[in-house]
Amino acid sequence: MPDVSTLTLNNGVEMPALGLGVFQTPPDETRSAVEAALSAGYRHIDTAAAYGNERQVGEAVHNSRLDSAEVFLETKIWISDYGYDKTLHGFEKSARKLGVDQIDLLILHQALPSDFEATLEAYRALETLLADGKVRAIGVSNFMVEHLTTLLERTTVVPAVNQIELHPYFAQREVQALDAENGILTQAWSPIGGITFYRDGQHSSTLDDPVIGDIAKAHDKTPAQVMLRWHLQQGRSVIPKSTNPQRIAENIDVFDFELSTEELAAIDALDTGKRGGPEPELITLESFGRPIPED
Ligand code: A2P
Repeated sequence: MPDVSTLTLNNGVEMPALGLGVFQTPPDETRSAVEAALSAGYRHIDTAAAYGNERQVGEAVHNSRLDSAEVFLETKIWISDYGYDKTLHGFEKSARKLGVDQIDLLILHQALPSDFEATLEAYRALETLLADGKVRAIGVSNFMVEHLTTLLERTTVVPAVNQIELHPYFAQREVQALDAENGILTQAWSPIGGITFYRDGQHSSTLDDPVIGDIAKAHDKTPAQVMLRWHLQQGRSVIPKSTNPQRIAENIDVFDFELSTEELAAIDALDTGKRGGPEPELITLESFGRPIPED
């Protein structure tokens, strides 16, 4: 069985393929979620300045018996901190809250299409942080084809990662293809489709999908585990979110089975082309901007 537990980024840095996501995890629940994840064997946590829980992520890592160098920390600069100097300062804020001198992977949370010059300046600050050894790798999130194309034309360091919404109901194949062409690792947020669970108040859950359910039964695994394995076998990183210790443990128990080519294709065929999260082209400072606190 091929080892899909570790991925090597385009600059040689190794990253555990599966991490815990803490989007929308309230600060007071974050510490226990990260502790549960570390006990279950996770060595990669994905947070963001905008989530307001970087401090609790750092505390959980530092309170654990692990050497903090063993835990891969990924965080994101929010759009309100875009611009060269503001992004350098954004790094300082995140590093302080996480309690580290060096961040493993620092990415831009969104493109800001209404001020792409500020987005490029923010990325140039990431390049400086990389050159100075303050971060081990840099990347982007929610960058669509046109955002990535411009970034690649106008900056120097190819992003290591593009973290995008990606689950069986929304596969973004054109973004995945551009990432792959350029050696950028596609990382899936909402990898089990959590963003779709409550859409339109209607039943649209990937967890109840009959195709995924049948595959899960055949392997004596859960639908969530099947979806995570689908990503990993196709070479993607995943950061499933959970605050429940049992589901946290379930989500990393995906390294002892293998999906067939036919099963992967059956899941590929579920793509609806319908996005669950915000449309990246419509992100503006006016609607989404908010200050990131110093502490
Ligand atoms: P909870 O935190 O209560 O476990 P995604 O990362 O794809 O957006 O999914 C996150 C959502 O899926 C959350 O609502 C989370 O709730 C739920 N979830 C996480 N892991 C599982 C699992 N193994 N089975 C069912 N639901 C899960």
